[in-house]
Amino acid sequence: MVNRAVVKLCYKNKVILAPMVRVGTLPMRLLALEYGADIVYCEELIDLKMMHCRRVVNEALGTIDYIATDDRVVFRTCEREKSHVVFQMGTSDAQRALTVAQLVENDVAGIDVNMGCPKEYSTKGGMGVALLTNPDKIEAILSTLVKGISKPVTCKIRILPSLEDTINLVKRIERTGVAAVAVHGRRKEERPQHPVHCDVIKAVSEAVSIPVIANGGSQEIIKDFASIETFRWATSASSVMVARAAMWNPSIFRKEGLLPAEKVLREYLTYAIRYDSHYSNTKYCLCQMLREKLESAQGKKLHAAQSNEEICEAFEMIDYYKEVMADLEAKRNQLNARDQRESEQPEDKEHADTIQMAVRFNKREYPPQITPKMILLEWCRRQKLPQPVYETVQRPSDRLFNSVVTVANKKYRSSYWDKTKKMVEQSTAIVCLQSLGVSEGKLYEGKSPLKNKRKRDEPEVPNGTEMTDTSSLDTNKRSSPLLTKV
Ligand code: FNR
Repeated sequence: MVNRAVVKLCYKNKVILAPMVRVGTLPMRLLALEYGADIVYCEELIDLKMMHCRRVVNEALGTIDYIATDDRVVFRTCEREKSHVVFQMGTSDAQRALTVAQLVENDVAGIDVNMGCPKEYSTKGGMGVALLTNPDKIEAILSTLVKGISKPVTCKIRILPSLEDTINLVKRIERTGVAAVAVHGRRKEERPQHPVHCDVIKAVSEAVSIPVIANGGSQEIIKDFASIETFRWATSASSVMVARAAMWNPSIFRKEGLLPAEKVLREYLTYAIRYDSHYSNTKYCLCQMLREKLESAQGKKLHAAQSNEEICEAFEMIDYYKEVMADLEAKRNQLNARDQRESEQPEDKEHADTIQMAVRFNKREYPPQITPKMILLEWCRRQKLPQPVYETVQRPSDRLFNSVVTVANKKYRSSYWDKTKKMVEQSTAIVCLQSLGVSEGKLYEGKSPLKNKRKRDEPEVPNGTEMTDTSSLDTNKRSSPLLTKV
């Protein structure tokens, strides 16, 4: 027996941020809420991808992250939006949909199924608008969700070629027990520039009792907050869902009126940096907001940016970026230290025979394309030892990694936990190299014994020197560092 909805999301008289791939991630949702949106939908996330995600509490950022097997964050949410965010999924299977809904339901306010996506990647898997011609499947998915979870369920459809069929479909959807239905007033073959069919949404709204959420009014009708109401009135809908108008200027949700793009861009960027948005999403959203100003000097800088840092430079927000990064680093170190203290006993036992050092790899200290791992591997080869074996683990509490490397039956590890697998393995290799008294190949140690690919033409590297020639490594002994043998 399922507990019925604890927080019941109401879909009447609401202004809603529509689901939008790349746009509808946490920073945009939080900004929309700040400006006055009542409900925010996340971008469509595919059930198959979500099913394999693990839920991680990200204490450093103050978020809940759903992380895929390739370590990418698929869905990030936080307490602020918990009672406002609707999780939209792409699915064509009731059981898969239920698995995903049950995975996320305690972190969100509602679950939505996308039945309006006309793109091939969606329809070829039987998702999106492909569902609209399979009402039995729609019924199976929605009924399974309504019975199986304790949060309200909605779906988002496009209109069908005939009004009668559209009304019949929505009536069938209503009987599954969904809390509302969002109707994008365009047919599957119609593009955003085609006029929205307000009359069809109106007829549907009048034919059913559940709240209808009108969608499709951006550009043509919705230009500011007041015109959201115009669209609601024209469609007799309970609520309005806004996509493109919000993507171009999220302050569309402000009752007091639109804010200048320059101000909104910076507010968006503040959230994007604070919540560690992937730079490509940050850039995409900012480009949508800049629109006709993309050719300006700032637009060109944005276009060229390849990281959040470069984006911040383009908007003269580099000080803010550095401040947030420093805070984040400090928080991560604090959490690291805490976790290390807490896990000291078991770790001590577990690593009783391991040589440990508090060492962290810093890429800038090494020539480009030369790493401690490469040097260690080459040293092993020269010593006719089996190649180093790295055992790397990730800690669920903060997703940080730690690694143990085995060389000649001895184990070495850095006591630091780090953000990436690559980083910890490099740190571990340094511990091993330092313990063995082998040069790490650092820049300041003098000429690197490895040939630097990028500097291949420079005279100090003799022609014909192999990339992996480490002949001088084992003679380049260093004074023994402080070793902690535990
Ligand atoms: C969309 N749309 C969309 N719809 C959906 O149900 N799930 C999604 O993930 C997306 N992704 C998406 C990305 C982008 C960049 C755009 C512009 C649109 C469609 C969107 O939610 C909406 O239905 C249409 O844009 C029509 O509404 P507007 O734009 O007229 O308010």
